[in-house]
Amino acid sequence: MNVTLADGLVLLQSRLAAAEQRELWLLCRTLSEGAVPMYTPTVRGGRKMSVGMLCLGKHWNGLTYQYEDRRSDFDGLAVPEIPPRLANVARAAAEDAGFTIQPDLCIMNYYSDSSKMGVHQDKDERPETIAAGIPIVSVSLGDEARFVVGGLSRRDPTSPVMLTSGDVVVMGGPSRLRYHGVTRILPGTAPHGTGPGRFNLTFRQW
Ligand code: SIN
Ligand code: MN
Repeated sequence: MNVTLADGLVLLQSRLAAAEQRELWLLCRTLSEGAVPMYTPTVRGGRKMSVGMLCLGKHWNGLTYQYEDRRSDFDGLAVPEIPPRLANVARAAAEDAGFTIQPDLCIMNYYSDSSKMGVHQDKDERPETIAAGIPIVSVSLGDEARFVVGGLSRRDPTSPVMLTSGDVVVMGGPSRLRYHGVTRILPGTAPHGTGPGRFNLTFRQW
């Protein structure tokens, strides 16, 4: 079911069937244990994030907040491509929500039981892309998460949205720069064949 939460903010509930969730979970796990493995980023100010991260297509550098072709803040390895299977999921979901995206980068985050993501804006992509309202497409797999979404100012109040495995959130148009974060993971809620933990994939157009 598609729920429009605000102009440009669409929740595609159960967008992915159970078999698709299991297939994508396995793909994420394989990627995260591959030749260019998942790692725990240290961000500006020296704090370590509580999620594991693997970027595809382009690497998000947590020290500069810029995208690059090699992981210069970690091991210097070249960034793996986005598998076409994953890019297709993002394109189709965006279309379902009334948007168009050519995803050329994806940030894959792995949440364990205690991981969180502080409230932030996704604003490190090209200014032209952001101005055009080209969406962020966020795919959730595994354990349920308490996602919070606010307005365009950090001071705006946030509302919780529970995200379960197979849900996709699309944030585009006037909602492209909404503040958002993850306050809690609900351990043990992952469907059979996914989990433990949670993968979230945010597809972006640079
Ligand atoms: C993010 O904003 O980068 C992640 C959102 C989520 O995990 O649902
Ligand atoms: Mn984000």
